Amino acid sequence: MKSPDLIRMTCDVLVVGAGLAGLRAALAVDPDYQVKVISKVYPVRSHSVAAQGGINAALDPEDRWEHHAFDTIKGSDYLADQDAAELMCEDAPRVVYEMEHWGTLFSRRPDGRIAQRSFGGQGYPRACYAADKTGRALYQTLFEQSLRHQVEVHQELFVLDLVVDDGRAAGVIALNIQDGRLVVVDAGAVIFATGGAGMLYARTTNPYINTGDGMAIALRAGVPLKDMEFVQFHPTTLPGLNVLITEGARGEGAYLVNRLGERFMERYAPKLMEVAPRDIVSRAIETEIEEGRGFEGGYVHLDLRHLGEELIRRRLSEIYDFALTYKGVNPVYEPVPVQPGQHYMMGGIATDKFARTALPGFYAAGECAAVSVHGANRLGANSLLDTLVFGRLAGMEASRHVQQHGRAAIGDRHIQRVSDWLDSLRAKEGGEHYGSIRRELRETMTRFVGTFRTAARLEEAKSHIAELRERYQQASAADRGHTFNYDLLALIETGFLLDLAEVVVQGALARQESRGAHARLDFPARNDRAYLTHFLFSRTVAGELTMATEPVVITHYPPKERTY
Ligand code: FUM
Repeated sequence: MKSPDLIRMTCDVLVVGAGLAGLRAALAVDPDYQVKVISKVYPVRSHSVAAQGGINAALDPEDRWEHHAFDTIKGSDYLADQDAAELMCEDAPRVVYEMEHWGTLFSRRPDGRIAQRSFGGQGYPRACYAADKTGRALYQTLFEQSLRHQVEVHQELFVLDLVVDDGRAAGVIALNIQDGRLVVVDAGAVIFATGGAGMLYARTTNPYINTGDGMAIALRAGVPLKDMEFVQFHPTTLPGLNVLITEGARGEGAYLVNRLGERFMERYAPKLMEVAPRDIVSRAIETEIEEGRGFEGGYVHLDLRHLGEELIRRRLSEIYDFALTYKGVNPVYEPVPVQPGQHYMMGGIATDKFARTALPGFYAAGECAAVSVHGANRLGANSLLDTLVFGRLAGMEASRHVQQHGRAAIGDRHIQRVSDWLDSLRAKEGGEHYGSIRRELRETMTRFVGTFRTAARLEEAKSHIAELRERYQQASAADRGHTFNYDLLALIETGFLLDLAEVVVQGALARQESRGAHARLDFPARNDRAYLTHFLFSRTVAGELTMATEPVVITHYPPKERTY
């Protein structure tokens, strides 16, 4: 079937992704420059809207941004770049008040100030929230602002390629999902805000759209990925669907209880108990289950009953609905079954603290980026903050780049290359349907690259991924059409996921220590002498992965043992 004609667009700054980081970046672009946003989905379906519990900021006079920075760095198991974490935490109060002034309806204290709750690994209750729908409240505000400022958003464009020309980013080539046409976007600067890669795992809080497209495309374009071995498992997700049950519930005082009725966190984090950082709580739950103190089916209980109906229905209304709808459990009267599930990628496209990547004219922000402010373990309620702080900086930096270097134009050879690739994918026949490869990949990652890792498990994953890669060469999609061909999209996404899985596993094998979310049973201790360093993975032109290291930036917080 012949490919339809292509669409050509041009702009100064192109933002890929219309979640919080993407919209914030677009709003920060200098008004003298033309900005366009493209998104794989209708913008309000971006994953940012699913964020529940809060956004951290040291607002209270008794709290200080330096304490927030310290908690973030300690939470990261000292792998965060401390200058970047300081920048983020110092900016946090400004960010929250900006969002409030733009219209975010935060929950309030009786005296009218923004309410703040406890969250994991924090020495002070500093998560500002809008009940348990904080992401949605923030997103609505930015969406309104983007309408107010007439930000041009093109939805249902699926990015295929980041074009590098003459040593700089020159734009992207995308697929128009609606009619199958190629969309060539020439741009002076490109910002990726494409979100995470939760579809690497079978058990995840992420939606189907989170297939790590931006990270994989950047890797293919020669841009390094950083810290990819650090994958966050959220302690409390509903078994089965793995829908998120916010950490805010524990922040409000909910208990974790095993089959014997014990509040088992006493054994793992006697001071912070249920509000220890996520890596610790997830490992604790997995240990309880593995040692036979969980419930059949692999879960423990989250008990909210003592919080009372009024608090649950007012501050935790979404998880009240989720528990009731998906499990038939009313949290007012019954404990909620919970198990860990993949939630967040600490790693991503390597950037500096101004969202700049190694490729001139190319920026990244939000979950697809690794600044790194989260290091080996992100603290809850720091990701919404990350999107708004670094999204804004990305928009500002991209504007500066355009001012100095002007627009770029994508050469015909790039269009031909991507068009040929797409045609070859459409023309594939026979072979297995990619669906089985995707399913096996997700199961492999969940089984062998989860909360607890060993060299043997990782080697098993590595060889299975290599086998899946072989099979993927022959795999095809069943739909050959041009209109809303989600089958073709998923075939391409599966290729992206395979690329990323390889990087996660290689990083996890190379890091022979336990740090944050990366727990090696065969190397149970943290080893600062050998591994207080970021791993960066790049792909050579021949397709080989190469690894480099980069020192962690230490400013005011020398690494210490991490106890809670
Ligand atoms: O548990 C939560 O509400 C998740 C928050 C986060 O990932 O920051």
